[in-house]
Amino acid sequence: MIKNKLGITDSVLLAKEEEKISKKKALEMFDSGFLDNLEPGKFVSLATIHKYLFEEIYDFAGQMRDVNIAKGNFRFAPVMYLKPSLDNIDAMPQSSFEEIIEKYVEMNIAHPFREGNGRSTRIWLDLMLKKELRVVIDWSKVDKEDYLMAMERSPIKDIEIKYVLKKALTSDVDNREIYMKGIDHSYYYEGYNTFEIAKLK
Ligand SMILES: Nc1ncnc2c1ncn2[C@@H]1O[C@H](COP(=O)(O)OP(=O)(O)OP(=O)(O)O)[C@@H](O)[C@H]1O
Ligand SMILES: [Mg+2]
Repeated sequence: MIKNKLGITDSVLLAKEEEKISKKKALEMFDSGFLDNLEPGKFVSLATIHKYLFEEIYDFAGQMRDVNIAKGNFRFAPVMYLKPSLDNIDAMPQSSFEEIIEKYVEMNIAHPFREGNGRSTRIWLDLMLKKELRVVIDWSKVDKEDYLMAMERSPIKDIEIKYVLKKALTSDVDNREIYMKGIDHSYYYEGYNTFEIAKLK
């Protein structure tokens, strides 16, 4: 179990509290215009999102990890290469859908935080799509298994994730309902589905 600021020692309870607190924050960052003020496609904006979501829960919110992590058979960027990797990702182009997904795939390989990478990086991806192309992903239209399989495959080949996400694009970029359903879906990919964002507060 990961050390947390809430003093919780039970991992099921921690997951619930984390979901509740950070989903409220995710809605706040949409409603206040906080998200719209971030520079798309930079690590600093991802770190700012991560900090906003998780600062009440984890000391490492917004901070680069100092441990190596792996998922399935894949080991994310080794700590010793994390900073140079993030500098390179910052410099990647982001002027087309293809370039933006390629950048997202690299950020997933970097996996800069100890926890909360999946959820924060999907918000970061939408920020880039919205500002550069005036579209966002309607995550409620992205099937969990299709998405996770395509992400697992993405370090080797990105054609599947491009296909899965392209099908779910919408130009309704300021739609609060789509955003809220998208957050619920994004959390569901990672196993968090106790609270509906619309019913919190
Ligand atoms: N085997 C894999 N190879 C590459 N990427 C993966 C793999 N499995 C999952 N991912 C990607 O990583 C994301 C989150 O994975 P992980 O559970 O490691 O992150 P996390 O830091 O715990 O994030 P969160 O707390 O938001 O779940 C997934 O949503 C997916 O995009
Ligand atoms: Mg997690």
